[in-house]
Amino acid sequence: MSVTLAALGLTALGFLLVVRRFVPAGRVDLTPLVYLRAPLNQIAFWLRSSRNPSRRPPRVVDEPKDDLFGYLEDDREALEATIRARDLERRFDLQALRRASTREVYRHNLYVLDLLDKHLTPYVGVTADSLRAVDAGCQDFRYATALERWLKHTGTLVPRQVELDGIEVDGQGIYEDRSTRASHGEHHAALTGNPRVRYRVEDFCKAKDRGLDLVFAWFPFVLPYALVQWGLPLKLFAPHLFFQRAADALARDGVLVVVTHTDEERAALAELLAGIDSLKIVESVSAQSKLIHYWDDVTERAITIAQKRG
Ligand SMILES: C[S@@+](CC[C@H](N)C(=O)[O-])C[C@H]1O[C@@H](n2cnc3c(N)ncnc32)[C@H](O)[C@@H]1O
Repeated sequence: MSVTLAALGLTALGFLLVVRRFVPAGRVDLTPLVYLRAPLNQIAFWLRSSRNPSRRPPRVVDEPKDDLFGYLEDDREALEATIRARDLERRFDLQALRRASTREVYRHNLYVLDLLDKHLTPYVGVTADSLRAVDAGCQDFRYATALERWLKHTGTLVPRQVELDGIEVDGQGIYEDRSTRASHGEHHAALTGNPRVRYRVEDFCKAKDRGLDLVFAWFPFVLPYALVQWGLPLKLFAPHLFFQRAADALARDGVLVVVTHTDEERAALAELLAGIDSLKIVESVSAQSKLIHYWDDVTERAITIAQKRG
């Protein structure tokens, strides 16, 4: 079976390379060809998942943070971004992360905080003295600090108790420093300083969590094309089940937060959520922020907020 899959995968890859070489870019829509990768994705995922989880710690790189927004050519925009970043740093206690992160990871956290602070604040119970949340499909959880700090400090002067689990089905990918995605995830969870922030290698569609206040899904796969291009096997494409599980995991009035890349994804998400009786979309707005260096490539990003009905 796996030999047949391997042969299929290699043939498909060869075909893909030949087409890429000889078909002029932009003249023909090559999007469907991405599905030729599916058998290879299946094998690679199986090989990764059947390995013993590596616990090799990641190499922690700290980069200076003095020129975070140099990519903004307009001086006024760069100044506005710096002022916004200082405001987020002051309110959300980012020193530990600032001292132990690359510029990219640090900016990613500022970006996540910027969006949550702008769009989600009204949905947090200001009287809640504790919050439980899951981030479904968290990759290496590089933005764990942003999520934890936002949950802890939003709408309250007294920091809340926070319990936060990042769940990732593909934790065994190897990184450049030969550690795994899971060891990066555990490192980012530990950087929050909160022992109740955990990284779990698990399929969220099978997760048993219940009674959560929030479920986050940053860029989940709502279109099969995106999942295959990312390198996952098609059998993991189950968006209805994914969001049904999110609905089941939420407590009454709990909030689902989904960030999508494109208008097509945002529309597909709206259709999926409309098929889940217990969820109601309360807001779906553009998620623009200049706190990431590729801001002008992602102008269709949107944040959709749904609430669990009674
Ligand atoms: C496009 S990536 C986004 C990663 C991360 N949320 C971020 O914003 O950087 C989607 C992630 O979801 C993970 N994923 C997909 N299906 C999943 C599932 N059923 N359970 C857990 N993780 C899943 C993928 O492996 C991938 O890491």
